Amino acid sequence: MPLVYSCGSKGRLLLSTLLICALIFELGYCQKDAQEQRTTPGRKAMQRKSKLGKATNKGAVTAKPKIKAAPAAQAQTVITQVLDRGRFQKVGETISVPTGDTLELRCRGKPVQWSVPSYLEEDDDGRLRIVQHERYGALTLVNTTGADTGQYTCYPMYCEDTDCRKEYGKAVKVFVFFPDPQELFVPSSDYYEVIQLRTNWPTVLPCQVTSPQAKVTLHREFPPVEVAVDGTEISFDVKKGFTIHRPRPYHAGALFCVASLGNLRQSSTKYMLIYVNYPMGPPAPVILASSSSVVVGENLHVSCTVVGEQDVAIEFTWEYPGQKIGRPLHTQESISPVSGGTALQQSQSVLLVDEVRAVDEGAYVCTAQNLQGAKSVSSAVKVVSKAKPKKP
Ligand SMILES: *[C@@H]1O[C@H](CO)[C@@H](O)[C@H](O)[C@H]1NC(C)=O
Repeated sequence: MPLVYSCGSKGRLLLSTLLICALIFELGYCQKDAQEQRTTPGRKAMQRKSKLGKATNKGAVTAKPKIKAAPAAQAQTVITQVLDRGRFQKVGETISVPTGDTLELRCRGKPVQWSVPSYLEEDDDGRLRIVQHERYGALTLVNTTGADTGQYTCYPMYCEDTDCRKEYGKAVKVFVFFPDPQELFVPSSDYYEVIQLRTNWPTVLPCQVTSPQAKVTLHREFPPVEVAVDGTEISFDVKKGFTIHRPRPYHAGALFCVASLGNLRQSSTKYMLIYVNYPMGPPAPVILASSSSVVVGENLHVSCTVVGEQDVAIEFTWEYPGQKIGRPLHTQESISPVSGGTALQQSQSVLLVDEVRAVDEGAYVCTAQNLQGAKSVSSAVKVVSKAKPKKP
């Protein structure tokens, strides 16, 4: 739809076209971004806003049927880098800026919002400046260091009156390296980092280099060996670090990265990898009472059983009628392998109620929980009074 496209990219259009455009953008993105974060726009943005806001109401009737087509045609967001002597360069996926230099990025949009490496967001030491101009947002970072290496993202904002929201789908990213002649790794505040290796989840060792030219290898501390990186089981991405795609118990241990460039060879923070046997899903408990109808004075036991993956811990909790009057809880828990050579185990909790009383009548609820979630099952138990001796 050329109409919408030109709306975002060039401003020289008939007023009526603009009005329709404003509406299409609004309707298209309001729905999509309804749950996304709202932000207050800058002063400039608000002035611009009030114009668009009025326009929207007038254009409402004409534009309505075009809502569906709107998201397909969008103005392209672009980040450009401002080089010295006023030259501009459209950035690709990554750029390198010598440390100490100034990083200056511009992103077309009115307004836009930036996201920067988290450490820059956290301690504001006055080196980062973000300014919104008429047609673009400008980000300037001075006195740069290797620690500034990371992802810089520009989000075009959609505004309606004083509410603005990020248009996530139109975000553009550039990964900026600041090659530091002294520091091959982006410094970390921690001496070591504990990382969980989950069975069903890729694990990232975030050793981030400051230069895309650095050669990075992965090492185990004990025994001291280089870990093979085949690109399938373990892969390396210069913007991210190492990824262990399908963690196995033998990946656990202390690992670190080594980067070399020229004469420089440095080690990263240490990563303590801990293997966690992660279940595929929440447990599926089965509850069984020794009897659904118990005579006063007899004993009752209710069992709750889960058959699941080996070495996956199950936590059981109980709710029972006697709780209300403070009847103590007696449970017996056990784990046993499931026969047949399968990698399964049976976990069981048995709730024991001695000398049943009337107050023990009601629902017995067992909740079984593992790292993926919890599930409850219940069983109703009826208490009957002692049978009277039959008359002769
Ligand atoms: C950048 O470095 C220069 C020279 O060391 C210093 O004078 C200036 O204050 C620094 N600027 C900021 C914003 O930190």
